[in-house]
Formats: sequence, C-alpha cells, structure tokens
Amino acid sequence: MKGFSELTLSAGLVIFWLTAKVYSQPRQPQVPCFFIFGDSLVDNGNNNGILTLARANYRPYGIDFPLGPTGRFTNGRTYVDALAQLLGFTTYIPPSARTRGRELLRGVNYASGAAGIRNETGDNLGDHTSMDQQVSSFADTVLQMRRFFRGDPNALNSYLSKCIFYSGMGSNDYLNNYFMPDFYGTSSDYTVKAYADVLLQDYSRQLTQLYTLGARKAIVSAVGQIGCIPYQLARYHGNSSRCNEKINMAISMFNSGLRKLVDRFNGGQLPGAKFVYLDSYQSTSDLYKNAASSGFEVVDKGCCGVGRNNGQITCLPLQQPCADRSKYLFWDAFHPTEAANIAFAKNSFSSQTQSYAYPINIQQLAML
Ligand SMILES: *[C@@H]1O[C@H](CO)[C@@H](O)[C@H](O)[C@H]1NC(C)=O
Ligand SMILES: *[C@@H]1O[C@H](CO)[C@@H](O)[C@H](O)[C@H]1NC(C)=O
Repeated sequence: MKGFSELTLSAGLVIFWLTAKVYSQPRQPQVPCFFIFGDSLVDNGNNNGILTLARANYRPYGIDFPLGPTGRFTNGRTYVDALAQLLGFTTYIPPSARTRGRELLRGVNYASGAAGIRNETGDNLGDHTSMDQQVSSFADTVLQMRRFFRGDPNALNSYLSKCIFYSGMGSNDYLNNYFMPDFYGTSSDYTVKAYADVLLQDYSRQLTQLYTLGARKAIVSAVGQIGCIPYQLARYHGNSSRCNEKINMAISMFNSGLRKLVDRFNGGQLPGAKFVYLDSYQSTSDLYKNAASSGFEVVDKGCCGVGRNNGQITCLPLQQPCADRSKYLFWDAFHPTEAANIAFAKNSFSSQTQSYAYPINIQQLAML
C-alpha cells in the first residue's frame, strides 16, 4: 500500500505542477488576430490626423477610457474593444494609422468615422477612409506580413484563416448620403430598393476581396435601428419618442439583403469561409425595448449633446456630459455608450438563439 500512496502523491504533485504551469502562462487569445473594418461605431483613432468634422479625440469623449480621448466616438470602449476582450486579447487592436511591423500580426483596426461602402459617403463631413480604401490598406498589410512567414504564402494564408474579421458598414451610406438630399444625388438616382441593391453589390465585392486576401472567419454587422437614434428623434419629430420609420424601413431592406448575402457566402460561393451575420438591428431594438431590465434608464437622449434630446448637435469639446453614463443607451446623438457596447458584445458573443448572431455566435466562430 505504501507504493500506492507514494504513486498517488507523486501523481498529485505532477498535476499540481502542470496546473501551476498552465496558470503561469500569459493568457492566449482564442484567435491569433482580429482585423476590423467600419465607421465611427468602431473607429479607434484613425481619423485623428485627417481633416474632418468626424473626429472624437477631445474631451469629454473617452471620459471613461483609461487613455482618455483616443478618437473613439464614445465615453469608453467600443463594441470591438469589448469583443476583443471577450476573445481573450489583453490589449486593444491598434488603429491602422499607428500600426507597424510585428504588431500587424495581432490585427489592425482600419475603421474610419463617416466612412461607408460608397466612396463619396461622408464627404459632407470631410476626409475619411472609405471601405474600398480600408480593403486596400488591408491588402498592403498582407504584403507587409509576408516577411514574418519567410515569404511562404501557404503559411501566411493558414495564419490569416484563423483570424477574425469584423466589418460594420452601411449606416453612413444612409445617414451621410441617401437621406441627405441637399448634398447627395443618390435619393433621386435610386429608389430605396435599388439603393440597397447597389450597396449590397459593392459590399459583396469588397467582402469577396477580403476573402481573396485570406479572410475565412468573418463577422458582418447589420445596420442598427438608426431611425431611432437621438439625432433622428430630434430632427424629424417635435415629439421626443418617435422613430423615423422611413429610415428604419430602408435599413431593414439593406439588412435582409445582407443576411441573404451571408447565406450565399456560406452556401458555397466562398469555399472554406464562415460568415456570421450580426443582427445589430434586432439587438438595438431589443435593448431599446427592454432597456429598464438591462439597467438603462435613458434611451432617447444622448448623454452628451446640444438641443432637443441632446441630439441636434453632437457632443462638443469640453462639454459637460451626464453624470451616470451607465444609465444611458446613447453617449451622443449617434453613438452608443460603453455600457451599451458591452451589452451588444456579450449578446453577440455567446447568444444561444440565432436572433443576434446567425448562423452561429462569435464564440463558436472563434473555435472553428
Ligand atoms: C473608389 O475609390 C477607389 C480608390 O480608393 C477606386 O479604386 C474606386 O474606383 C472608386 N470607386 C468609384 C465607384 O469611384
Ligand atoms: C406628438 O405626439 C402626439 C401624440 O402622440 C401626436 O398627436 C402629434 O402629432 C405628435 N407630433 C409630431 C410633430 O409628431
């Protein structure tokens, strides 16, 4: 029996040693890299150095972010910051404007405030990096990454196939294009249906380019319920609580086409790829409806802003924001608070229904 207990003891020690070893390793993310394409909802500083009104590198933006105002269009973390944390990254994915060399291997954020699927979208606010330009910046990144794989394209492709790609585009193609007829001709050139079709045609080409460059695990976000953001509530109705249904209808048309596009990509059009459709419309409208049970008290006003619903003019430099950001769904006239971004990220990461992430959730995508 003596031999047996010695054996047990040493097995116990080995287990203890292995456990200690596992826990002393630095935590590894679930995927090696995360690439981000989008607009101000996920921009983390790419617009800081360019000439545009779509900038947020001033107080009180970033009031709840450890680094202060970084160019994020919210008080703290964006949706993709929260998602990066859920994926196990211990630092945020850096902006394209300031990422070089080995850092590229962990992923890059190309998002730019005011950007859209169409090149001209957002021109009313100044300069920006459109989706076409973001895709071509990624092509440039892929070229630069080659040297870390000794020029072996198979090794690089295998690496990229494990990365997560996020793309959230389309809001500005409506807000800062189609529904701004004084500045853009699209609403006289296209019916709402035809416009959704041309946007989806362009977007399909852009996403296919990402695939050709190596993307295999992709998340594409629907456009949120932007007919109900404080900016629209202030603009279109004397009443503070009514959404602009014309915009919501147009968005819904785009979103249902996007979901079908994801089905086509997954159904054999892009072999080996898995796309997840993120239903931001459903998750924003659910959060709006069930705000109280999620701890939100104010859903129709920006925490920071000027005019009706704090939504007529966006949050200005050095303006005093609301005291309790965690009670507001919106930080300013257009953008969710950090608290809302975290709620969206959690929903889409591990949702067990297909109503937020379809056909699988982001945790499942990461594990593929
Ligand atoms: C959009 O811009 C890109 C360059 O960034 C250019 O290659 C493309 O032709 C432009 N698209 C249109 C429709 O003008
Ligand atoms: C405001 O709301 C009231 C009652 O809900 C409605 O009768 C009125 O038409 C609304 N005003 C506007 C400008 O939408």
